[in-house]
Amino acid sequence: MREIELSAAQAYRSRFGSEPEVIASAPGRVNIIGEHTDYNGGFVLPCAIDRRVAIAVSRGNDGLYSSNFDEMRARASRRQCSWVDYPNAVAWALDDAGHSIPRFQAAFAGDIPLGGGLSSSAALEAATGLALDALFNLGFPRVNLAKLCKRAENDFVGVQSGIMDQYASLLSEPNAALFLDCRTLDARPVPLQLQTAGLGLLVCDTRVKRSLGSTGYNDRQATCVRAAQTLGVRELRDADLSDLSQLTGDELKRARHVVTENGRVLAAVNALDRQNFSQLGRLMFDSHASLRDDFEVSTTELDAFVEIARESGALGARLTGAGFGGCALALIPSDREEELTRICRHRFLDQGFKEPAFHRVRPARGAERAL
Ligand code: GLA
Repeated sequence: MREIELSAAQAYRSRFGSEPEVIASAPGRVNIIGEHTDYNGGFVLPCAIDRRVAIAVSRGNDGLYSSNFDEMRARASRRQCSWVDYPNAVAWALDDAGHSIPRFQAAFAGDIPLGGGLSSSAALEAATGLALDALFNLGFPRVNLAKLCKRAENDFVGVQSGIMDQYASLLSEPNAALFLDCRTLDARPVPLQLQTAGLGLLVCDTRVKRSLGSTGYNDRQATCVRAAQTLGVRELRDADLSDLSQLTGDELKRARHVVTENGRVLAAVNALDRQNFSQLGRLMFDSHASLRDDFEVSTTELDAFVEIARESGALGARLTGAGFGGCALALIPSDREEELTRICRHRFLDQGFKEPAFHRVRPARGAERAL
């Protein structure tokens, strides 16, 4: 069992005084490329990382305990604006799908940095979904669990997100990124042999906190829907560059990002299939520029990291996740990582930014049951 799964089991024992029946865990993710394309029916290339949320659960009295927050909460059918919304959202979505979920009690432990763009909330949903599926013998295929967790996020938590994070957390394979068509949900693992190429993935958490609900995420999603309507297409996935002359203002900028980003994902998959990491890196830089200038979800800190990464010899760098703060990702030769973190820390403090946190992340396996 992984350490984080043992921690959840230990927390369960000390809170509830008995043994859990099921233990499961699910990873966070970085998105290599393909940002804000998922809810437009487009393409994404995320990669599950070696940071997880674990759950230990049994039938019980509806107590939910987080060892990260050292907090016991009760299962509830309404949003509380707390970590407990995510497990509650999944239980609600299961109920709503006609699987009446009996009382249960659970303990959670996680090591994904919270609220920063590495999908700690999707991991919490995925781990809860997988564990409840096992505990109550529901027999959900993984893809259906991903859809259910997305529904939980959209209709209980209230963020109009796409399916990327939940899908990546539930269905990623080790040593690979996941190329996903968010319309058809066809996916294939794309091998990511970084170590052999002397490369690493370095995450910079700018520690600028964001909460998806209260930022422009839903606003961006709504503008994309309007742009598709103006163009008379089902989703922006169906638009191409020549259509964009029919748009103006924000609709034009947001749509231009989505259309070009979909193209970059296809090009990135092609580059990775040929182990062409330099090409992948260039596409990552281009993705960041488009998110900064057209989708307008970057921040001064994220932009600063990307430029420092470029100067420090990164092959590519970009914000990862929704933006509006949170994390950026660099694809960088392993022997330059230390230099990058040193310079970045120094420059951030110099410019009066918060001290950033750095995480080396590795591609990892998707959600798994440990007991
Ligand atoms: C968040 C959402 C995802 C996706 C990204 C942006 O992580 O949960 O569905 O839209 O933002 O690419």
